[in-house]
Parts: sequence; C-alpha cells; structure tokens
Amino acid sequence: MNIILFAFTVISSIYLTTAGDPDTFPKHVHISLNNDPQSMVISWTIFAPLSANVAAFVNFGKTFDTLTQKQQATYSSFKTKKTKRYIFKAVLTNLEYDTRYFYSVGSTEGISQVFSFKTFPSGSDYPVKICIFGDLGVVNGVSLSPLIAAGQRGDFDMIIHLGDLAYDLRTDDGDVGDTFMESLQPLIATKPYMVIAGNHEFEKDQISFENYESRFFMPEDGDGHNQYYSVQVSSIQFLGISSELYAYFTHFGTEPVEDQHKFLEKKMQSVDRSVHPWVIAYHHRPIYCSGKKSDDCSDFESGVLKDGFIGMPGLEKFYYDNSVDMVFTGHQHNYERYFPVYDRKVFKSSPNPYHNAKATTYVISGNAGCHSSGAAFGKISPFSAIQSQDYGYSILHVINKTTLYMEQISSDPKASASPVIDSLTLTKDPGFNFGSAEVNENDYTYYPKTNFEVPPMITNSCYSRDLRCRQMLSGDKSKVTFKKYFVGDEQENEQNGSDL
Ligand SMILES: [Fe+2]
Repeated sequence: MNIILFAFTVISSIYLTTAGDPDTFPKHVHISLNNDPQSMVISWTIFAPLSANVAAFVNFGKTFDTLTQKQQATYSSFKTKKTKRYIFKAVLTNLEYDTRYFYSVGSTEGISQVFSFKTFPSGSDYPVKICIFGDLGVVNGVSLSPLIAAGQRGDFDMIIHLGDLAYDLRTDDGDVGDTFMESLQPLIATKPYMVIAGNHEFEKDQISFENYESRFFMPEDGDGHNQYYSVQVSSIQFLGISSELYAYFTHFGTEPVEDQHKFLEKKMQSVDRSVHPWVIAYHHRPIYCSGKKSDDCSDFESGVLKDGFIGMPGLEKFYYDNSVDMVFTGHQHNYERYFPVYDRKVFKSSPNPYHNAKATTYVISGNAGCHSSGAAFGKISPFSAIQSQDYGYSILHVINKTTLYMEQISSDPKASASPVIDSLTLTKDPGFNFGSAEVNENDYTYYPKTNFEVPPMITNSCYSRDLRCRQMLSGDKSKVTFKKYFVGDEQENEQNGSDL
C-alpha cells in the first residue's frame, strides 16, 4: 500500500468512526436469512433517535465503490432501565444468486464501514458449510476469536448459534449484549447469523425474551418472534425450535408449545424430500445427554422435550415420524455426538449406523465458551458415541443430497495440534427416510427407562415456585393466568408511528 493510500485509509476510517453523534453511528451490524433465497436481512443498532425526516438505508452494490442501490430500513426500539436502543432492519430482495454484495448501513447522521456478503447459489444441490455452536459469552468467550478467524478464512458460509448468547444479552442494562454484538460484528456482518433462544435469553424480571426478540430478525414463518421458524439452505430443511417455551411453560402456558408443534407438523407436510432430503432441527436444550449435573436430563434423557408433559407434545416422535436426520443442541457445556436413537432404542450394531440411519442423530455442541464452561460428564449414556470437554464448535458440510460431513473443531488452548476432535459422515440413498423404513429387533439395543419421576426440568422450575405450578401439574389450568411470551406488538405500533 503506498503512503498516500495508507494516509487516506487511516483518515477515512477515523472520519467514519468519529463523525457526527456517536450514538447515531450504526453498531451491531449483522445479517440473517429469511424464507426468500434471493434476499438478505440486514440489521443494526443506534443509541439515539435520528432527527426528524432523516431516513435510514442500506446502500449496496456489487463492488466496494459502487454502492448505488438503496434499501430503506424500518426500525423498532426497546428500552432497558437506562438505555433505549433503536434497532433497524432492511430486507434486500431480488439479489442475484452466488454473488458477492458490498454494503454499508446508516443515515446522514452516521454511516458504517463497507461490509460484504455472498449469496448462496440457486437450486438445492450446492455445497455449503455451516458453523454450529451454542453457549458463547463475553466472559471466557474462548471460541470468539477462533470463530472470527475461521469465518475470515472461509471455513464456513453461515452460522447457527444454538442459544445462550452473550451471558446475558440483558446483563448490565444490556451492555453485555452490546459488547457481544460488537465483538461478533466482523463475523456476523459478513455471514448469515441464525439464532435460537436459550435459557439465558429468558428475562426473569420481565418474564419475556425482550433483548433476544428485539435484537434479531429470524424468518417470520413461525411465531414471528424468533422462537421458532424454518429456513432452507441447499438440500437442508432447517427447523429452528424453542426448547424454552417448554422450560417456561409455567409462565406462558402450554399453548405456545402446542402452537409450535402445529407449525412443525404443517411445515413438514410441505417439505419435498426430493428437493430437501436432509431435515435438521436445532434447539437449545438437548433431548439426550450425559451431563453430570443437569437440570434437564435424568436417566440420560430430558423427558419433557422427548415425550412431552401435561399437554405439551414432545419432539422425539415428531422427529422420528418425519425422518429428521439430525438435531443440534447446546446447553450442556460440552460436546457429545450420539448414535442414531429413537425411544431409547440405539442403532449402533451395523458396520456403519450412519448410512441410511434408522433414527435421528443428535449432537450437543454447547462449549463455544462462557463463564461456566467445561461441564463434566457423569455416567456416559449408552446412546452416546463420543464426548469431549474441549471448547469448540461444529462445522456441518453439505456435500450433496446424499452426503453430509460434520467436524467438531477444538478451540481449546490446551488442544493438540489437530483441531478436529470428531468427524462424522452421514449418508443415505436417494428417497430413503427412516420414518417409513423397516426395523427389526436385531437392528437396535433397547435400554428401558428406569426413572419415572417428574423430570428435573419441571421440578426445578416449578415445585419451588408457587401455587400456580401445583395447579398446572394437577391439571387444573382454569385458575391460572399466563403472560404472552413476546413483546413485539408494542414495538410494531411504535415503528408504524416513526418518521421513517
Ligand atoms: Fe443453557
């Protein structure tokens, strides 16, 4: 770089970060997918309102210095105790497939640096690499720098964060959430960042998920408030599912889980498996785990998520009936990969149980790094294939419509030279779906359930609380009033009344 260009770069970057009111300078820039493959959702935050009649835009184009296209943004706001945040959203549409776009966001009162992203190819049979992890915080966020470096190297094309973000988005009046979003910006402004809620997104004082709901914009085909949704990438039909609507049913009632289930059933009726042969679900809490100290698993399973509870349908039968190939979860701060398993029947006896697998393969990838990382394993589940306490993240590589390849990458400072601590190839013949495959007794080993007590997920969240819990558990919901779990209606009203 010559001296004049270097000086210009330094001066322009100083200008970009200091000009105008710093509170109207765009921060937390990130992108996400929606249900239109030729679209990208772009979002950012400012900390003071724009002046009257000042509009916010995304300026974009196919080269760094031709950002000639404009897309106006809408905004919503939310206020923590002391801080009001203005969250902008712009949806770029009619984008060309397999094309890099450059963009900046903001207004005449503050404009961001130029970022870029690449759209996916057309169709449903292109290779893609997806980074998947859960439980990443600001404090002890061990994988944060490795993830940014890996993203910049091109090790993956998009990200799925399996809940428990920042620890917590709401902490210190939302400052921790702000720091988290700022730290991740180099990555999530350039790769689609898909999220799902974990228990740390639940705000006990508000009985809501307000920070989580307000800061992100997931596809709106589900509840429209980021709890559950679907998205298609290459030959995968993803299902983003809320385990937290189960966990906090004492506040919100059983209806949100029932609604989620209806959405999932309906969605799967519309999935053409010749186009999207792979169906992969993700949620925060696991259905199977071997964690030593776990609120959720006893007898190696979370009975609530697996089989349901007082009117809330479980997920496992849905996964089996609909041939859901893989389920990724976090919450347990470790890594654990399972053999195909359904209803405590584990399919591990064949030479390759992952070819034409007879049941769902579960992966816990919950140790990206947070203040309480490295959860110890207790007695190892008979369904579990491999376990690790290394910090790390998963990369799922869609090879084609019949082959998936997954690696678990250690980001642990104590790790050996090779960062790949586990790998898995999942294959299936065209048209194979285990939900309709023949199964005989020699195919599996059955480990019957031995603990029939009310699951700890319920006893921990419910028995210690109040009369309302006991009324629900006794089946008498008539006297119990519930809160809605989302806050979005108020935001929409404010947005409609904005100057934009
Ligand atoms: Fe969690």
